[in-house]
Amino acid sequence: MANLWYKNAIVYCVDVKSFMDANGDGTGDFVGLADRLDHLERLGVTCIWLNPFYPSPRRDNGYDISDYYGIDPALGTLGDFVEFIEAAKDRGMRVIVDLVVNHTSDQHPWFQASRADPNSPYRDWYVWRDEKPDNITDGIVFPGVQKATWTYDRTAKAWYMHRFYKFQPDLNTANPAVRQEILKIMGFWLALGVSGFRVDAVPFLIEPRGVLTDKPVVDPHAMLTEIHDFLSWRKAEAILLAEANISYEEAPDYFAAGDRMTMVFDFVGNQQLFLSLARKTAAPLRRSLAARPDPQGMGQWAVFLRNHDELNLGNLTEQEREQCFAAFGPDPDMQIYDRGLRRRLASMFDGDETRLKMAFSLLLALPGTPVIWYGDEIGMGEDLALPEREAVRTPMQWSPGHNGGFSEAPKDELVRPAIDSGKFGYHHINAAMQTQHRNSFFHAIADMVSARRSSPEIGWGGVDIVDVGDDELLVLSSHWRGNRVITAHNFAGTPKSFHLADEGIEELMPMLTDSPTGPIKGDGEISLSAFGYCWLRCNGERR
Ligand code: NOJ
Repeated sequence: MANLWYKNAIVYCVDVKSFMDANGDGTGDFVGLADRLDHLERLGVTCIWLNPFYPSPRRDNGYDISDYYGIDPALGTLGDFVEFIEAAKDRGMRVIVDLVVNHTSDQHPWFQASRADPNSPYRDWYVWRDEKPDNITDGIVFPGVQKATWTYDRTAKAWYMHRFYKFQPDLNTANPAVRQEILKIMGFWLALGVSGFRVDAVPFLIEPRGVLTDKPVVDPHAMLTEIHDFLSWRKAEAILLAEANISYEEAPDYFAAGDRMTMVFDFVGNQQLFLSLARKTAAPLRRSLAARPDPQGMGQWAVFLRNHDELNLGNLTEQEREQCFAAFGPDPDMQIYDRGLRRRLASMFDGDETRLKMAFSLLLALPGTPVIWYGDEIGMGEDLALPEREAVRTPMQWSPGHNGGFSEAPKDELVRPAIDSGKFGYHHINAAMQTQHRNSFFHAIADMVSARRSSPEIGWGGVDIVDVGDDELLVLSSHWRGNRVITAHNFAGTPKSFHLADEGIEELMPMLTDSPTGPIKGDGEISLSAFGYCWLRCNGERR
């Protein structure tokens, strides 16, 4: 089943410049990342997703690219990149990279050429209007920070469209030359050894730009098929992981049973998960899991707790969102864009390891492929003194030493400050101390990852939601090729127990549990502590 590797993968997202600085200039780099693959191996990671590492003015953490065929010089060279890919491969890890082609940086030579000359071949690579468009504030993605989605450019004497910040002009993907270039970019990185792409902002990427240029595009998803077909011709095992905050109704058009996007992040499920954690009941998550369409064929959902952006709660009702804010980020400074929280997982739970472990176990038990944000495996916190989403992107905390072991550079030369005070500071929270101690948070998470990797039922198989008559519990039965794994999670702060209607107790083998005395009691009762969890393997079962 090697071709379906992504279905049983453990994906770990890294921001290279914040991970490990090998040359002491204050910015993380590829040599440093390659050097720290031990840590990822110990955690059980099988696929590394790299946030953008391309040359960039870095006004949006590298999501503003000025050259698609290079490496930000502070992060290393193409040679360092290939060495890193090989080092990861040696340890059985694949690498996927961000494909950010909805927009470029305004510093990109294409945009510079486009704005400078109406007759430039690059003019139509962007979306221009001579007249001021109506409603230039429609569709703003970063409310409170971004002012418009169209901006007047004095050099071009025209208006250009930008879904995101004004320094990120949107590429005109209705232009065949732009689409050709996107494929060329993909081909380049595939040739350097990557196993696919996390595709940025997919709903905007396929937004029918033709409409904007008065030439309606009939099927906006056709571009996804084009990208997918190219990808599989170049590298059969490669995948596309879509960042698409879409409804479940829209999902089948994105997946096309894996013929378009191989994986799509489950943003709907993520928000219902946090609502469930805030309300201490599994009901919202259970409902959304029941409503979530099966991706079909080669398709797979990607599930996550936190990522490099805000925790986006924009799909919840205002009342639901307020409940999440009250539970996880009551201070207005923790909130952002009228919809989210710029906090890390551990700080949202105030470092409560019991609840954090339950959340991680849940992530790994959910049908789909789990994606982990670097630092969450040791329980790092955020730095609210940093602007916007930068708060959750502070340097990886390796040790209690200088700069948390991230860099030997003077403190004031770091790409971002390391968290050096408070309970989430590197003196208390760091990888070195946790890897030394068998009962640390890191080891608990690594054990969960190991349980997940030995449960292909979850990644490859189907799932039933088991009704145990208690809204505060989520019991899932994942099955594949005649084998079955049952996972149970207690969302409540009180101990719970339940029975499985059709299981004989002798058939259940505990794989993972937070309970020192084991989850199975005398009469077949399965007990869970407050915010507890357990994983059970069923032997000899045929389904
Ligand atoms: C989505 C990325 O996750 C986010 O970090 C970025 O700001 C926008 N796309 C724009 O590229």
